[in-house]
Amino acid sequence: MQSDPALLASFLLLLPLVLPGQPQLVRNVLNSMDENGTFQCVVHLPNNSIFLQQLDQLQSTLQELISKYEQELSRVTNASLTLKLLVDSARQSFHALREEVDILEGQLSECEREKEQEQSSRHPGLPLAPGSCAHGGLQKVSRPLVVKLNWRGLSSKAGAWGRDSAPSPASSLYWVAPLRADGRYFDYYRLHKSYGDLVLLKHYEQWKMGYGDGSGNTVYKNFMYFNYYGTRDMAKVDLSSNTLVLRRPLPGATYNNRFSYAFAPWTDIDFTGDEKGLWVLYATEESKGNLVVSLLNDSTLEVE
Ligand SMILES: *[C@@H]1O[C@H](CO)[C@@H](O)[C@H](O)[C@H]1NC(C)=O
Ligand SMILES: *[C@@H]1O[C@H](CO)[C@@H](O)[C@H](O)[C@H]1NC(C)=O
Ligand SMILES: *[C@@H]1O[C@H](CO)[C@@H](O)[C@H](O)[C@H]1NC(C)=O
Ligand SMILES: *[C@@H]1O[C@H](CO)[C@@H](O)[C@H](O)[C@H]1NC(C)=O
Repeated sequence: MQSDPALLASFLLLLPLVLPGQPQLVRNVLNSMDENGTFQCVVHLPNNSIFLQQLDQLQSTLQELISKYEQELSRVTNASLTLKLLVDSARQSFHALREEVDILEGQLSECEREKEQEQSSRHPGLPLAPGSCAHGGLQKVSRPLVVKLNWRGLSSKAGAWGRDSAPSPASSLYWVAPLRADGRYFDYYRLHKSYGDLVLLKHYEQWKMGYGDGSGNTVYKNFMYFNYYGTRDMAKVDLSSNTLVLRRPLPGATYNNRFSYAFAPWTDIDFTGDEKGLWVLYATEESKGNLVVSLLNDSTLEVE
């Protein structure tokens, strides 16, 4: 019978439990001390084939139990490992889901904001006074879109149009100043009372100007300001009579397409108006072509 001593010892402990009523299991036990002082214990087991068979059975039962236990252990280990993996992946997909929801929520609020803007531009509430900034700051700049060709048609690709930045009740609000086909010479303009008329090309006054350069025009308090052709001069025209009321050089300003905007040639001197007054944008040799912005006195055209 092959078995290791530890196993045998455990069998000996088990035997009284497993085989009750068999008092003569251990036939003889001899205890002695040898010459070197080592304690010796000799156990004589009966040569009983039934007992040996039972011992064999017991051992194989124990082996089965052990291997079952090991299996169970590995199953439990596997199960807890699987559970841990599941929890981890659930946590990861929850985070991914959370991020997607965040992105979607952002897109939704962006959409809602755009929709609100579109609705408010279609159905404006109380019209704000021109020049009022009560509508808040600039929220978005769209790509250019063609609303309408100007009255001179496809040949006139450049020019300017807009609304009087500081209109008086008598002024024509809207103005259109298409340049000639050369994209430089400003000779005619039209005035409209409403945006609807502008888009439909009707109800307008048309004037011949004949000495403007580029598309830097603006209209402020019913006067049109622009660069006088081929010079660094600023021109001021009274729109109620189409008369040139003032012409004055802009100190240091470059002209004749020296430092025009990259996307718009011949616009060396660019005017604009806002709630603070009349502004001019240009470049000088000192600024090396960088933009200079100056506030003008709109009566004298002096730089403030
Ligand atoms: C006792 O010890 C001696 C020396 O270490 C050894 O040679 C001898 O075999 C031992 N006797 C027994 C019975 O172990
Ligand atoms: C034990 O008993 C069997 C038969 O029951 C016998 O064949 C065997 O030789 C015995 N062994 C010893 C060591 O006496
Ligand atoms: C435990 O997992 C290992 C590797 O995934 C597998 O080989 C083994 O059969 C599994 N054991 C049980 C009891 O499921
Ligand atoms: C513009 O210049 C005129 C004349 O010098 C002056 O009376 C007027 O106050 C100036 N306007 C502003 C807004 O400074």
